Amino acid sequence: MTEGLTIRPATALDWDAIHSIFEQVVREGETYAYPMSLTSDDARDLWMEQPPGLTVVAEIDGKIVGTAKMGPNRPGHGDHIGTASFMVDATARGAGVGRRLGAYVIDWHRRRGFEGIQFNAVVASNAAAVHLWTSLGFEIVGTVPNAFRSPRFGRVGLHVMFLAL
Ligand SMILES: CC(C)(COP(=O)(O)OP(=O)(O)OC[C@H]1O[C@@H](n2cnc3c(N)ncnc32)[C@H](O)[C@@H]1OP(=O)(O)O)[C@@H](O)C(=O)NCCC(=O)NCCS
Repeated sequence: MTEGLTIRPATALDWDAIHSIFEQVVREGETYAYPMSLTSDDARDLWMEQPPGLTVVAEIDGKIVGTAKMGPNRPGHGDHIGTASFMVDATARGAGVGRRLGAYVIDWHRRRGFEGIQFNAVVASNAAAVHLWTSLGFEIVGTVPNAFRSPRFGRVGLHVMFLAL
């Protein structure tokens, strides 16, 4: 299903397409605790990583259908563990774009010598994400109870998920 899909570093020219996906995901309100009132500039500061981090886009036939950002989870003595965030356009979900982005992120960390990847706040009711990360080898190391207010499910937990590399 992801034939013709390429993943490449994002450039400034990609921002409008990334922002429309970002805005859609934040508006859905089910998966990230970003403020609902971010301007495009605020969102760009949050999503477009600077080195040593990286932001990428997933593209099919020149259309951006997903994006991920990655980098050290903590500075200083915590920077041997990475982290990442993912967003796929609602119209492109379920076709393997998220899986390809996940594999890219794991490979990126491995090549740079990171010792693990930590997802800090996976919404427990986000079944697609929990399924996908588990299938890529991540484990739920703990759950902060009732830490997220889902518009659909009410208070739900936030999982910390970890993959040792
Ligand atoms: C999570 C997300 C990145 C996944 O991207 P995607 O392109 O849909 O992912 P894929 O198509 O590669 O895989 C989705 C997997 O979840 C499964 N899935 C989808 N909906 C599901 C559900 N309700 N329950 C269980 N599994 C589900 C699919 O079957 C597929 O698994 P499979 O490959 O074993 O068949 C995407 O849904 C998204 O952007 N969501 C909004 C933002 C978000 O949640 N980001 C991640 C936060 S941790």
